[in-house]
Amino acid sequence: SWNMENLVDEEIKVIKGTVGPEDHVICALSGGVDSTVAATLVYKAIGDRLHCVFVDNGLLRYKERERVMETFERDLHLPVTCVDASEQFLSKLKGVIDPETKRKIIGKEFISIFDVFAHDLEKKLGKKPAYLVQGTLYPDVIESCPPPGSGRNHSHTIKSHHNVGGLPKDMKLKLIEPLKLLFKDEVRQLGRILNVPGAFLKRHPFPGPGLAVRVLGDVTEGNALDILRQVDEIFIQSIKDAGLYDSIWQAFAVFLPVRSVGVQGDQRTHSHVVALRAVTSQDGMTADWYYFEHKFLDDVARKICNSVRGVNRVVQDITSKPPSTIEWE
Ligand code: XMP
Repeated sequence: SWNMENLVDEEIKVIKGTVGPEDHVICALSGGVDSTVAATLVYKAIGDRLHCVFVDNGLLRYKERERVMETFERDLHLPVTCVDASEQFLSKLKGVIDPETKRKIIGKEFISIFDVFAHDLEKKLGKKPAYLVQGTLYPDVIESCPPPGSGRNHSHTIKSHHNVGGLPKDMKLKLIEPLKLLFKDEVRQLGRILNVPGAFLKRHPFPGPGLAVRVLGDVTEGNALDILRQVDEIFIQSIKDAGLYDSIWQAFAVFLPVRSVGVQGDQRTHSHVVALRAVTSQDGMTADWYYFEHKFLDDVARKICNSVRGVNRVVQDITSKPPSTIEWE
């Protein structure tokens, strides 16, 4: 019979049978569930011939780099190199306002860093890595290859998702996609068997371009990213404390490129406005805005204005998708 325990053994057998005994494999970890579970499976099959990289693009959430690296290293023992490329990304994003341009720049920088990682590894090993692990899921496979007559038309991309394709060209890497027949909930079950911490498996989705699509306009303006990280952390922690995290598909804060007048102490202020967004959804394609109790919102807004310097106003996004999208950019 077909169960998840068998599936782990099956997958490991297949990976062992595919990757030659001398072959090396590379993997980019995003900090998300899919790439983490895929890498963990491959690690079980081939051990230290797997080489992972995690890129800090300067657009991660509060303490995110430390938190995911701890899971990779302490809980999963993955061989992972952490590259701090914050300055490289942020200098390329300086002055950029257009959301799609931001995504393209981030995608391009990521590829260039991954390329350097792969070539450095080649030098170290004295040979090219042979395979690339990707956490592609079944729905991704269907989406990029719509069945004929399905009426899906992908020549019209609403947002360019940078996580797919475009990796070191001269390497001729072959792909290993151990999750490509699975749905998200099956990947989570696999993750549990592989000892991926429960809290990690339940994390809300986070877009590849990170906080760049949550700071509207120029992400390098003032200390927008720093303010957003603090506000987001307070919001998410309050949601967890209230026991609401698992009932919400995604929750986050957005930094708005405007200032409004406020009064704090007996001082007039001219400070930043942040928006809170929380939605329920099945698959991200449509979404409903989430109803918090007024008391909860009141507490969160007070906490934000009292503890985050530079914020004097908090608003809530009360639109669903459609007509809005989940992210603001
Ligand atoms: P939207 O904003 O289009 O988002 O309603 C739907 C889902 O996709 C995520 N999202 C992205 N994920 N790269 C990603 O990897 C992107 O550029 C991107 N844009 C949106 C969003 O967080 C939501 O879960």
